[in-house]
Amino acid sequence: MNKLFEAMKLKNLKIKNRICVPPMVCYNWVEEDGYAVQRNIDHYRAIARGGAGLIIQEATCVDPEGKLSKDQLGIWEDGQINGLKEIADAVHEEDCPIFLQIHHAGVNGSGEYLLCPSDYEMDKDGEKRIGHEMTKEQIQKVQDQFVKAAVRAYQAGYDGVELHGCHSYLMCEFFNSRVNKRTDEYGQYPERFAVEILERIKEAVPKEFIVGIRLGAFEPALADGIRHAKLLEEHGIDFLDISYGFSGEDEPGAPKDFPYKDVIHAAGEIKKHVSVPVFAVNSITDARMAEDILERTGVDMADIGRGVLVNYNWAIDAKEGRDTGRCLHCKECQWGIDAEKCAGRVLLNRKRNMGE
Ligand SMILES: Cc1cc2nc3c(=O)[nH]c(=O)nc-3n(C[C@H](O)[C@H](O)[C@H](O)COP(=O)(O)O)c2cc1C
Ligand code: SF4
Repeated sequence: MNKLFEAMKLKNLKIKNRICVPPMVCYNWVEEDGYAVQRNIDHYRAIARGGAGLIIQEATCVDPEGKLSKDQLGIWEDGQINGLKEIADAVHEEDCPIFLQIHHAGVNGSGEYLLCPSDYEMDKDGEKRIGHEMTKEQIQKVQDQFVKAAVRAYQAGYDGVELHGCHSYLMCEFFNSRVNKRTDEYGQYPERFAVEILERIKEAVPKEFIVGIRLGAFEPALADGIRHAKLLEEHGIDFLDISYGFSGEDEPGAPKDFPYKDVIHAAGEIKKHVSVPVFAVNSITDARMAEDILERTGVDMADIGRGVLVNYNWAIDAKEGRDTGRCLHCKECQWGIDAEKCAGRVLLNRKRNMGE
């Protein structure tokens, strides 16, 4: 495992290996006020202790109206800083850096009035959702919320933030021309919403604070993802964490002989066009696969998501050649319902108890 356990630097930040734990919301843990609870602190401390090079904390909402679910962590008011600081401190005590993903759910929100770049209707889980075209004032207000959230993350001691720009949430809706039908500058130049936020955050925080983005590779096509990535780099983005874009898009796929997810291939294609670090994600199940992906695609970091939910010690176990366990790809991930019932975790614990 030459590459996977090689240290790297992201700006001035030292990262001890190429394993990144990507953002994963733990539902049902916090109250509607979005304040961090002890369970969040213990969860991130345990993940950090497990040896990953970097943690990106779960989607944390910049606006109570923009929450994906009622019980999501928030960063929309100063009172939330202290609890978040406890998470960041716990992770730092375990010698791991941590970024916080800042998020607005847009048309996927849980509020009454759903914001979207343009009027937009969609079905989600059998329910009709109607997004309302944002006025310029509403755009500015949400941009302000992102900037203030990043400043709060800095005050709480995080090493950086990740803009949530994929998975069909608000920033992603701006990037995607199938959703963003605006005729003004936010439609003609779909990166503008994110770029303005990025530039304003950079003005508001010290230089060493890292600002990256989770970006859709297919938005709707890979050519768009590459264009967005290049533009963001020109405007100072510090890293690109590449995932899927607006849901339901037709993905162009990867070449037939590419053995992993198309989105991992796409991250490698994006890497060819930028010089900032690029992270790849999706269904990376073991250390050998992670190593091969780093070698084959040239990306800088491998995100291990559900693998780490199954086994907090994934990175240390991988380094020491132990079975890291495996996500069983349940029909519905139990971490969205009751983490104690995670089938991969139950299986791994059973195997270990039996001395396998
Ligand atoms: C329970 C759960 C919560 C998630 N929450 C987020 C999130 O907050 N932000 C995000 O960008 N992706 C989120 N994701 C997606 C993961 O970060 C990751 O991209 C996905 O699980 C695929 O990677 P994996 O196969 O390594 O798990 C979530 C995934 C799961 C399973
Ligand atoms: S095994 Fe199931 S519950 Fe556990 S992380 Fe994987 S999908 Fe989620």
